[in-house]
Amino acid sequence: MPILEILNYPDARLRTVAKPVTQVDDRIRQIVKDMAETMYDARGIGLAATQVNIHERIIVVDVTEDRNGLRALINPEVISSSAQTKVHQEGCLSVPGVYDEVERPDLVRIRCLDENGETQEFEADGLLSVCIQHEMDHLQGKVFVDYLSRLRQSRIQARLQKQSRIQAQTARA
Ligand code: NI
Repeated sequence: MPILEILNYPDARLRTVAKPVTQVDDRIRQIVKDMAETMYDARGIGLAATQVNIHERIIVVDVTEDRNGLRALINPEVISSSAQTKVHQEGCLSVPGVYDEVERPDLVRIRCLDENGETQEFEADGLLSVCIQHEMDHLQGKVFVDYLSRLRQSRIQARLQKQSRIQAQTARA
């Protein structure tokens, strides 16, 4: 199974809005497997298909410390969310080395399909809630830095562009 390439902010492809999955079949299950492997390899707690340039509504998450709580959410929807919000420090595999605070609803009720095509409905709180909301944003073409101030966004862009220039020079050397 291949490790997929993760797109880096501010890559314009991260702005693509993902399409719903029409049928959960072996092709989708393979995407889920490859995404899970890519997420574990990158030591992330979540990955949206958008980040690996696949524009279908699929996310994988695992917020457990033992890395044995993989969950695939296909066509995820937030059915309800709490009025109570919480601020969390977030990071993103597409925005390496950048962490900042984002405020989101504390609790969300989610409906989705699993990798067998079965409907699942559950309530998420804490880190799982943050992670699912963050990944669902990706499917809408949204990145967590969009929530930050303009100044912070342009600093992050400048820093990542500098990093990728250094990487390109190192690769040529
Ligand atoms: Ni992310």
